[in-house]
Amino acid sequence: MLRQLGRSPLNVTPVAMGCWPIAGITSINVTEAESLSTLSAAYDAGINFFDTAYLYGYEGESERLINRALGAKRDDIVIASKCGIHWKDHKQVKDGRPETIRSECEASLKRLGTDFIDLYYLHAPDPSTPLEESAAALQDLLESGKVRAIGVSNFHTVDKYETFARVCPITAAQPHYNMLQREIELDQLPWCREQEVSTVVYWPLMKGFLAGKLARDHQWDPRDGRQKYPIFQGDQWVKTHDFVDKLREIAADIHCSIAQLVTAWTIQRPGITAALLGAKRPEQIQETAAAMFLSLSQETLDRIDVAIKKRGEVISRAAV
Ligand SMILES: NC(=O)c1ccc[n+]([C@@H]2O[C@H](COP(=O)([O-])OP(=O)(O)OC[C@H]3O[C@@H](n4cnc5c(N)ncnc54)[C@H](OP(=O)(O)O)[C@@H]3O)[C@@H](O)[C@H]2O)c1
Repeated sequence: MLRQLGRSPLNVTPVAMGCWPIAGITSINVTEAESLSTLSAAYDAGINFFDTAYLYGYEGESERLINRALGAKRDDIVIASKCGIHWKDHKQVKDGRPETIRSECEASLKRLGTDFIDLYYLHAPDPSTPLEESAAALQDLLESGKVRAIGVSNFHTVDKYETFARVCPITAAQPHYNMLQREIELDQLPWCREQEVSTVVYWPLMKGFLAGKLARDHQWDPRDGRQKYPIFQGDQWVKTHDFVDKLREIAADIHCSIAQLVTAWTIQRPGITAALLGAKRPEQIQETAAAMFLSLSQETLDRIDVAIKKRGEVISRAAV
């Protein structure tokens, strides 16, 4: 069940809990009590891999909640966090300067209540700081023992990975990826496989769309951050609903939910080490965690393939 992260000694479950929704910034109706229960439910469901960031919460709420819910289980879990993007006046600012990376790492260690972070990502390249400088700061943190392995996220092009890796070894890459947004298969994923870098993907459920629970006539709460993405609008909305209906048929035939079918497909893709499943309620992560125990047959994979081809790829836009 456990999969090795890159060439590191870290071993993780293929379903990881994405801890952005519990920060309560773009997800609505998130409560502290439910967030703590969701983290415990993830652990109880067999998940050992938790993905957070300095950015997740205006005051680091996500990291603090992980500490509160799972601090006593620290030795049994793998914590991934990220540096290089922070909030200023409720807007995201990319800042990959070495001094910022060092101070964000110290703050995350305190919030998480731990002496080390297992996997520490550069959240995104900072266009104002040479990538080599950010990489060197992360290499220093690795040598100091404050972090055990380094990852990179939102790199988008192979040349960025190569530039970074010349200064600091990469254990994991974190791009977005799901059934309909698969452009990493062209170059990033092959590069990672060749270099023995793990690929850990975000948005496997396409921000909840592929969980199959958004009705065609869903009325958006104005506070729900998802409606700004083109996939949740107009023609894209209709076509994706048609696709989800097809997935519903396939899932029913093999007696699982759509979210489980989608999660199992993602973690069975060659080269995908783990998928980050966001959740804000225990039942959500319990549902997706169960996909770790679901093996899709070739016939099911072929049916999914036909549905994906019929739907066509969607225009991608990464988180940052
Ligand atoms: N590196 C980066 O830049 C980056 C960017 C984005 C995300 N991430 C990471 O990836 C993780 C996943 O991304 P995400 O949380 O944005 O999106 P996601 O996992 O694609 O979707 C999460 C949302 O799907 C819905 N959901 C989850 N399980 C469900 C279930 N069983 N049934 C019905 N709905 C369900 C919930 O939304 P509702 O309940 O609100 O409908 C939940 O908030 C994040 O938490 C974060 O750790 C990283």
